[in-house]
Amino acid sequence: MILELHDVCAGYRKLEILHNLTMHIEAGEIVSVIGANGAGKTTALRAIAGLISTSSGRILFEGKEIGRERPDQIVRDGLVHVAQDRALFGGLQVIENLVMGAYTQPKTSVSESLNQVFELFPILKDRRTQRADTMSGGQQQMLAIGRALMARPKCLTLDEPSIGLAPNLVAQVLAAITKIRDTGVTVLIVEQNASQALAISDRAYVMESGSIVMEGSGQELADSPEVRKAYLGM
Ligand SMILES: Nc1ncnc2c1ncn2[C@@H]1O[C@H](COP(=O)(O)OP(=O)(O)O)[C@@H](O)[C@H]1O
Ligand SMILES: [Mg+2]
Repeated sequence: MILELHDVCAGYRKLEILHNLTMHIEAGEIVSVIGANGAGKTTALRAIAGLISTSSGRILFEGKEIGRERPDQIVRDGLVHVAQDRALFGGLQVIENLVMGAYTQPKTSVSESLNQVFELFPILKDRRTQRADTMSGGQQQMLAIGRALMARPKCLTLDEPSIGLAPNLVAQVLAAITKIRDTGVTVLIVEQNASQALAISDRAYVMESGSIVMEGSGQELADSPEVRKAYLGM
């Protein structure tokens, strides 16, 4: 197991959002967490990334406790988070954003990483001198993922990568995520729009009110009547 959460409780000030959250990701999997707006999906990814502290429970990455680590240390460990708002440097060029993503990496590896990102997202190469904030939503999502890849993650966490994107761009982004997994990077996605995420997932969890209430293969959850009714709008 590359990532394990055991009975994690976390939240904001005195408000507990995650209640004994327990889940795990095997190396090389794409795992999705689906759930309604407000279920705690973003909070879970923020806890994993070290952006909020946990009040109890354990988070292990490659067997090592990371629950008390700083965010930049977690990135150095190989766990890299792409936030829902993408957190790009809007006034900077595409290439500048990408290079900043490699801040934990030796300078000598940057050009090789750039080539890998450009191969995955050719549009970023074509637009490399464009300001990030003048890119379309889909291009910005690709840039955010590309920047995360510049840190050479072993595991990538993605918060609603398809939100707000036109259907053809959703398909492009999800195809890229599959390619990333195929290069050996483990991927954890949280999504409210579940059907396409489930389609590319090896396994998936359903989160309700800060806890996991169901798990299975992507296909099992996509076929489940409860999931179809509650999360797939069918
Ligand atoms: N910064 C915050 N301060 C207080 N409560 C928050 C904060 N961020 C989120 N919450 C609350 O935490 C709960 C879970 O939110 P979130 O993790 O964003 O859910 P999801 O990503 O599944 O939509 C919600 O009730 C939300 O209002
Ligand atoms: Mg969210």
